[in-house]
Amino acid sequence: MFKKTILCIGAGYVGGPTMAVIAKHCPEYKVVVVDINPKRIAQWQSENLPIYEPGLEEVVFTSRGRNLFFSTDVDAHIASSDIIFVSVNTPTKTFGQGAGRAADLQYWEKTARQILKNSSNGKIVVEKSTLPVRTAAAMERILNSNEKGIHFDVLSNPEFLAEGNAIQDLENPDRILIGARHTDSAQKALQQIVDIYAHWIPMEKIVTSNVWSSELSKLVANAFLAQRVSSINTISALCEKTNADIEEVSRAIGMDSRIGSKFLTAGVGFGGSCFKKDILNLAYIAECYGLTEVSKYWEQVVAINSYQQQRFVRIVVSSMFNTVADKKIALFGFAFKADTGDTRESPAIDIAKALMEERAILSIYDPKASDGISSDLQQFRGRFTVEEDPYKTARGAHAIIIATDWKQFKDYQYEKIFEEMEKPAFIFDGRNILDHKKLYEIGFNVHRIGRPPLSHLG
Ligand code: NAD
Ligand code: UGA
Repeated sequence: MFKKTILCIGAGYVGGPTMAVIAKHCPEYKVVVVDINPKRIAQWQSENLPIYEPGLEEVVFTSRGRNLFFSTDVDAHIASSDIIFVSVNTPTKTFGQGAGRAADLQYWEKTARQILKNSSNGKIVVEKSTLPVRTAAAMERILNSNEKGIHFDVLSNPEFLAEGNAIQDLENPDRILIGARHTDSAQKALQQIVDIYAHWIPMEKIVTSNVWSSELSKLVANAFLAQRVSSINTISALCEKTNADIEEVSRAIGMDSRIGSKFLTAGVGFGGSCFKKDILNLAYIAECYGLTEVSKYWEQVVAINSYQQQRFVRIVVSSMFNTVADKKIALFGFAFKADTGDTRESPAIDIAKALMEERAILSIYDPKASDGISSDLQQFRGRFTVEEDPYKTARGAHAIIIATDWKQFKDYQYEKIFEEMEKPAFIFDGRNILDHKKLYEIGFNVHRIGRPPLSHLG
């Protein structure tokens, strides 16, 4: 009854939303998403989806049970599928050669072997995960060195969605990139993937390339985006020394159409599961090819990110009379950015840890990321509480830190919050999102990124 069966291995932040959007637009395809994590699959099958993403529920609930299915039976679904997207995690390696820099490809390789074991006919295998350039060559070798006489085409179709904006990014992406070899078989496979996206993406946005360009473009896109964040953060440090204002500088340079205005918001540094891992991986690959200068250039983007976080913590401690020991500090926001519950590599984690090492007592509030907090900070258990109400979070605190750019943080009644805080009361706006002049008038000592502080303390 269905034209073809698409399988996605890996039901995470990418696999789930991506396949839900494909299922929505391609009702004649059966789309199955599998994962080895039974809890995650049970959540995808329930009313409480495993990830928070604006608009996701509507898209999933439209197609689930019609042509979108979630399952833990990886083997059986491999056997019955025509096209397999692989969207498993590719974290930074924590052991052996390349530890701390290279991509850990164990999940990816296990998947390739599992595909081979359970296939009795040739299939199209699509790299959706972010992978080191030339991974497809290794995958082809594993898949095609079989005695069954079957052939697999390995294509690259990296995902560019940003969390918190995933559904919009999937519905209306800047581009879809698909890389394939120039063999007849690979080009036919490529056409099948183009046909899927052509259901809702204009053809001029579907870009095809060779596999290696496609794999590398994904790493490079993330490296360039992160580089802009690090670049503007270095300038924020200079602004604080010179009384220039980072927002005025960002605006002025962003109006140059060659530079562009996006990704120029200074803050506490970038987080998320991918920027750091992908840049480190890019740097590692360059080094493996003997390109030491190239490697060092990109590593600096990550080094600046750590520097910005440490710099922020130093400002907090020094402004609060060089000690935060036994002082209550309210942390507003724990997710790595607004509109997600994801805390992976969130700047809030390192900020919270550094402050607790200084013996501060933290009360933490995040509208969607409460679940991650206790495990991310488990070695500091007893030094922090996770709150459900922002007003309670700030009650009796000496300072508030804004660590995530959640819009609702702007709308709180800061007069009321101020009354219930210890004095002098501080706000450290690590995302520059609040109305600083108003907070200063209420009585707060306001510290921002890349702008002079507004202080009543002289
Ligand atoms: P994730 O950790 O949320 O999801 C990966 C899933 O794969 C997990 O649920 C895990 O259980 C599952 N898995 C691992 N091995 C498996 C196996 N052998 N069989 C079945 N399931 C298996 O990761 P994610 O954030 O969705 O990222 C996946 C990939 O996409 C990564 O390479 C990442 O770099 C890339 N990416 C992520 C984003 C993002 O916003 N998170 C955006 C673009 C690209
Ligand atoms: C990023 C990319 O934007 C996606 O294209 C890519 O697909 C994805 O990584 C991935 O490969 O995982 P994501 O990490 O979800 O998406 O979110 P971003 O919007 O890129 O933000 C990343 C971090 O940079 C956040 O911590 C954000 O707060 C920070 N940021 C972003 C800034 O500090 N300033 C900015 O101007 C922009």
